[in-house]
Amino acid sequence: MSSLRLPIFVWHGLICLRAFPAAPDPNSSMTQWQVYHGDAGGSHYSALDQINRSNVKDLEVAWIWHSEETGSTIECNPIVVDDLIYVTTPRLRCVALHAGNGKEVWRFDPWSGGRGGGVSRGVTYWSDGKSDHRIFFSAGDYLYALNARTGIPIPTFGQEGRISHRDGFDTDVFFFSIGNNTPGIIWKDLLILGSTTGEGPQPCAPGHIRAFDVRTGVRKWIFHTIPHPGEFGYETWGPESWRQVGSANAWGGFTLDPERGIVFCGTGSPAYDSWGGDRPGQNLFGNCTLALNAETGERIWHFQAVHHDLWDYDLPTPPVLASLKRDGSLMDVVVQPTKMGHLFVLDRETGNPVYPVEEVPVPSSRMPGELSWPTQPFPTSPFRLAMTRMDPDHATQLNEQANAKVLHDLKGMRTGDVFLPPGYQKSVVLPQFNGGCEWGGAAFDPDSNTIIVNVSNEAEWTSMVDSRPDQGISLHRLGRHLYRSVCAHCHGLASPIHPSSPSLEEVHQRLNEAQVGQIMETGRGQMPSFSSLSDLEKRAVIAFLFDTGREEQIQTRDLKLSYAADVPVVATGHHDWRDPEGFPVNKRPWGTLSAVDLDQGRIRWQVPLGTYPKLEQRGVSPTGTFNIGGPVVTRGGLVFIGAAMDERFHAFDKDTGELLWEHQMNAGGYATPATYMLDGRQFVVIAAGGGGKPGTRKGDAFYCFALPE
Ligand code: HEC
Repeated sequence: MSSLRLPIFVWHGLICLRAFPAAPDPNSSMTQWQVYHGDAGGSHYSALDQINRSNVKDLEVAWIWHSEETGSTIECNPIVVDDLIYVTTPRLRCVALHAGNGKEVWRFDPWSGGRGGGVSRGVTYWSDGKSDHRIFFSAGDYLYALNARTGIPIPTFGQEGRISHRDGFDTDVFFFSIGNNTPGIIWKDLLILGSTTGEGPQPCAPGHIRAFDVRTGVRKWIFHTIPHPGEFGYETWGPESWRQVGSANAWGGFTLDPERGIVFCGTGSPAYDSWGGDRPGQNLFGNCTLALNAETGERIWHFQAVHHDLWDYDLPTPPVLASLKRDGSLMDVVVQPTKMGHLFVLDRETGNPVYPVEEVPVPSSRMPGELSWPTQPFPTSPFRLAMTRMDPDHATQLNEQANAKVLHDLKGMRTGDVFLPPGYQKSVVLPQFNGGCEWGGAAFDPDSNTIIVNVSNEAEWTSMVDSRPDQGISLHRLGRHLYRSVCAHCHGLASPIHPSSPSLEEVHQRLNEAQVGQIMETGRGQMPSFSSLSDLEKRAVIAFLFDTGREEQIQTRDLKLSYAADVPVVATGHHDWRDPEGFPVNKRPWGTLSAVDLDQGRIRWQVPLGTYPKLEQRGVSPTGTFNIGGPVVTRGGLVFIGAAMDERFHAFDKDTGELLWEHQMNAGGYATPATYMLDGRQFVVIAAGGGGKPGTRKGDAFYCFALPE
């Protein structure tokens, strides 16, 4: 048996920590960055102005910290508490750096030295205002509570400092994979948390929202995003959907109005993403802006931005808290960006649209068993920021060959406006499934009641095919599937996740097949019995662990759980669609940054965001590019944003959209920056994790900028 491996803590102890501040002071929240996206309202705003329009040209690198690992894109928006900055790495270690010089102070490794992996957009800080300071960090199946000064798990929280993302459900989720990529938010002594779930044709977990006691990890409330019988919204589904359908999860995090005690989120689409015949109806609370009582989790209001989603048009970010002038006084609103590139401006207390929203008829689906919803909500034009139509008139004009190729592709494709339902024939999807707007969200500038938001304009195509559930799968593949859904949440995928469960990677060298079968049958020590698995299922798990059974085919109808698609049609995927040189197929700009005046309901400026160096050399610039990661707006008159595929960190004039400064990084800054003040010096930091798109470089660093000392 492999030796027991425990999480690794590296305490560098190099830095003399000063006393932590008391609980976050709401009045100073505008000059600090203690919360994901700047503050509880998700404003992405800083009142700092040391770096401003006149001196931003002098900005230089203050420090660069390399995590020395590559994996996924770094999507982390760091938070800063006193002199520590908390970041996450491409393989999901949580690290505290000195905010002034980028020196590593501690590192927490939830993978016990294993490879690790996944996506993390950052962490949550909580303090009791005295000596208890915690960092909440999700990796794999678990949420960890770490001592903010040392990175050591707090033993009194959950089990040895962590809880499982499967904890606190009131239905059985044992077979489902559940994680969390975006930090939760604090309300008093509660951590309010969303989840990532499956969204494919296989069964997956429901995306219910839960609040946990920050001290103990005990679940305090749950909100059913897929309502149970008797609950509001239950009738917007089929009668059995609540048992069968998953997802509708708040995967993009939360914002909070501390004065009103309201927590907000945007929810994702219900599963399956591309076919909803088993969920007839509008499907509340999928694709909704939700306002919940932060104390109890009760619904206050909801606004659904996509009815009965068939496009994976999740609401990828919580709404940003904002205000605007109405009849001579200030009105509190929230602004919800969507993957369609729509902005919905909603009354903060009622959810009623402040600017008109119209239900517009959309084409209906012809897929078997599908009952698509006849209308979808559209805001008025200043609040529609993305390109939503791709037909011959909208084909790229970059050069003749590009135009000719795209016109050729378009022949035989279904074209139309946003909300064209998928069908057997190839059809255009614009915006593509990752926006429009994305998880980076929007910034709110309270100095001018303006929303700053970046949008991608890149078409893709999709199509549907009949699924063949009886096609069968190999014994090995069934075993792999079972292992991942049943065994992996203790034994891990490659390295163990649960410290006391041995890795099974090399179990075939220690035990024979009969012994493993016996352990599954009876359980052992802390391992429960899996006698409920059928003989076939047990045989399949063993085949996976011993790397056999690739040739033996199983009929899926012989299985009690449905591991294969249980739907009549499945999507062929999100297909990347390019011109002969690899550029997008639709007209430019391929990405924009916009400033929307909330008082007047008009676009103040809109500029292309990013450029392709190859086109820049030919004098075609800026074109805008696909972009991901949000903006930061400051009292210094600046908008800081990476996001674009040119791998540059940009500063724009927030009043005009003029590009004032940019810095070439070694990989794309596909993350939201943060800005903070330490020892009288303003810093701006952004992750440069790169990756994300084919042909882009991977990175491992955080870049931090300041004015010369
Ligand atoms: C709830 C956590 C948990 C789950 C789920 C789980 N195990 Fe285990 N497993 C353990 C623990 C803990 C041990 C160590 C038990 C002991 O020896 O005291 C263990 C031990 C084992 C061993 C013995 C390993 C060795 O090297 O001696 C095998 C084999 C095994 N598990 C197989 C499985 C399989 C197959 C599944 C899925 C069907 C599974 N386990 C699911 C916790 C779990």
